[in-house]
Amino acid sequence: MTKSEHITFRQFMLQEHRRVGVTKDLIFLLEDIATACRIISHQIRSGAFSGTLGATEDTNVQGETQKQLDVIANDQFMLHCANTSRVAALVSEELDNVVWQKDAPKKGDYIVYFDPLDGSSNLELNISVGSIFSIVELEEDLSSTDDAAVLIAGQKQVCAGYALYGPSTSLVVTTGDGVNGFTHLNGTGEFLLTFPNMTVPAATNEFAINASRQKYWYPPVARYVDECLHGSDGPRGKNFNMRWVASMVAEVHRILTRGGVFLYPVDTQNADMGGRLRLLYEANPMGFIIEQAGGKASVGGSRILDVAPSDLHQRVPVLLGSSEEIDLLDDYHNS
Ligand code: F6P
Repeated sequence: MTKSEHITFRQFMLQEHRRVGVTKDLIFLLEDIATACRIISHQIRSGAFSGTLGATEDTNVQGETQKQLDVIANDQFMLHCANTSRVAALVSEELDNVVWQKDAPKKGDYIVYFDPLDGSSNLELNISVGSIFSIVELEEDLSSTDDAAVLIAGQKQVCAGYALYGPSTSLVVTTGDGVNGFTHLNGTGEFLLTFPNMTVPAATNEFAINASRQKYWYPPVARYVDECLHGSDGPRGKNFNMRWVASMVAEVHRILTRGGVFLYPVDTQNADMGGRLRLLYEANPMGFIIEQAGGKASVGGSRILDVAPSDLHQRVPVLLGSSEEIDLLDDYHNS
């Protein structure tokens, strides 16, 4: 049974069209992305039968082994995003270069950035994975389709979202005026509004970090974690809980649900790369979502959304979640 207030994704987006002017083209694009996510969800759930949970023999541009489902998910995003006439270019974690959809992109056209299957090392374990996307609207006509034209700062995003493939499939979206969560009602093809106005509480006592990297941390993060671990006996004066799913979408969903912070800092081992997580299709969309929900997203001392991208697959430090904790981390980085 669903409650009558569980309106469909389309009904909700049309309300947003009337309320804050979300364009119909953006709604069509989001519906296409939602379709891709429904199909990816189905493919993941049937992966044990189709034998697609494992690796391919290829590596992606990041040098990471591609899972068969990474490729399947990428194909779905490519297929469905290309359906909308206002999409000028697609940027995927799985592809080396920009895939241009137009020879002469115009003001108002969209660039879509996506990580089609984030956390895919969890697939064989039946642990939650997700898809992440970010949409930028061109502010002027482009004179060329040089790949550098898509290097646009996160503050220019008009929309960001993710699908979480967990016990249920969630679709969480911001179009720049709050964050709303939808759940796929199995067998109907509909995402229904189940988590309106998602917010990140300012205070928390839960943090997420891959603690096995402790020996590589720089002093600000080492200090922050050390103080959390000292709990009520330390300077923080309260006990902290720690979680690490190794699936950024699941971590962000937890933070949007009950607060917390997620940290993938730059450290002495990943410093050459600039960090671990990718700016355009991981850090930017998650940063936008978290800020829209009242949280903060930082590279350590400044906003993720202010980073001027220099490379398609650029990596950055990511510290995001409850604002009081990110403020403290920023202070430690700036002092
Ligand atoms: O995309 C990278 C990712 O899989 C994230 O989803 C996740 O947070 C992180 O890597 C896990 O990193 P690690 O392997 O260090 O636990």
